[in-house]
Amino acid sequence: MYHLSLQGSTSTSDIYIGAGVFQQTAKRVAEKFKPARIHVVTDSNVAPLYLKELCAEFPLNITTTVIPAGEEYKNLDTVAGIYADMSKAELTRSDLVIALGGGVVGDITGFAAATYLRGIHVCQIPTTLLSQVDSSVGGKTGVDLPQGKNLVGAFYQPELVMIDTDILTSLPERIFNDGMAEVIKYGCISNPTILELIAEPDFKSNMEQIVYESVRIKRDVVQQDEHDTGLRMILNFGHTIGHAAEKVGHFTELSHGQAVAIGMVQAAKLGAALGEADLTEQIVAACKAHDLPTELPYPTEDIYTALLHDKKRTADTMNFILVHPLGKAVIHKIPLEQLHQLITAL
Ligand SMILES: NC(=O)c1ccc[n+]([C@@H]2O[C@H](COP(=O)([O-])OP(=O)(O)OC[C@H]3O[C@@H](n4cnc5c(N)ncnc54)[C@H](O)[C@@H]3O)[C@@H](O)[C@H]2O)c1
Ligand SMILES: [Zn+2]
Repeated sequence: MYHLSLQGSTSTSDIYIGAGVFQQTAKRVAEKFKPARIHVVTDSNVAPLYLKELCAEFPLNITTTVIPAGEEYKNLDTVAGIYADMSKAELTRSDLVIALGGGVVGDITGFAAATYLRGIHVCQIPTTLLSQVDSSVGGKTGVDLPQGKNLVGAFYQPELVMIDTDILTSLPERIFNDGMAEVIKYGCISNPTILELIAEPDFKSNMEQIVYESVRIKRDVVQQDEHDTGLRMILNFGHTIGHAAEKVGHFTELSHGQAVAIGMVQAAKLGAALGEADLTEQIVAACKAHDLPTELPYPTEDIYTALLHDKKRTADTMNFILVHPLGKAVIHKIPLEQLHQLITAL
């Protein structure tokens, strides 16, 4: 088992990673909090798998909210339902909310916890690979609006994060592979050893170390830039073109991980065109090994148009995350005219 701590501006996040960590939840909660009540939020897929086991660990009566699974429920209506259940359970500010699920449950529960009574303790138990290596750590919470994804939210650190790699065994392969795109991202921007670990044929027997190495990078970056004003941008490697591709596909044709995989490969090509190291072959190999796509399925002109809405854009330039050499992220400020040429040449 591994332990990491993240010093946030308002609290410390204790992060436990390993097989069987799930069964230690009650013990770690007792070490850190003195809740009179615990409220668990989970979704309709995760509830039948893990909710009963979690509740049985605690000597207290646990109240629960089970939300329908899926990004389409990451909205303010669902938050209102969670508030209603929290209120019915008579939670106070010394009580605890646990998010048991993937990134959707984590984001929405974190947001409800950040805002209910102006902030109530929260513990994350991430159950997808993406949420284990990415969304459960770092304190970004939020929901979608009809106008766009993640438009409402708060920075709010979970004080406890219990990452059990055994829980990944029940994940459908496609959802597991989505998370692998983020793992590949960490290998590219910070630690190429991760790429070696996941290239092993039996890499799944080493998920503890793979998740730990990934989370350690996220922890380090967030600790230096908790509120996303600079360095945290490097976590967006592959996400600029990735988001554009998701958007062109109306957020239904490509999953997030597939879009990020494509985005990382295209960013590598773009880096090579700008005279940086050509890492295209290595990144393509890593993505293909985990059944992730590498080719842009849309016209580059459509991708460029979608890119213009990226938040990393200024009036005439865009900050673009590139990797050079493998294991080091660099931020390039690219004039839009040049970016247009580079994208249409992909
Ligand atoms: N806060 C952040 O920093 C951050 C970072 C990245 C992504 N996100 C957000 O995360 C969300 C995506 O998260 P996700 O990919 O985990 O999706 P998700 O939460 O929708 O989970 C994917 C599917 O897997 C199911 N599932 C979860 N755990 C399971 C398990 N152990 N066994 C079987 N099925 C399981 C879920 O019910 C769901 O159907 C997006 O909303 C995204 O915006 C947030
Ligand atoms: Zn991502």
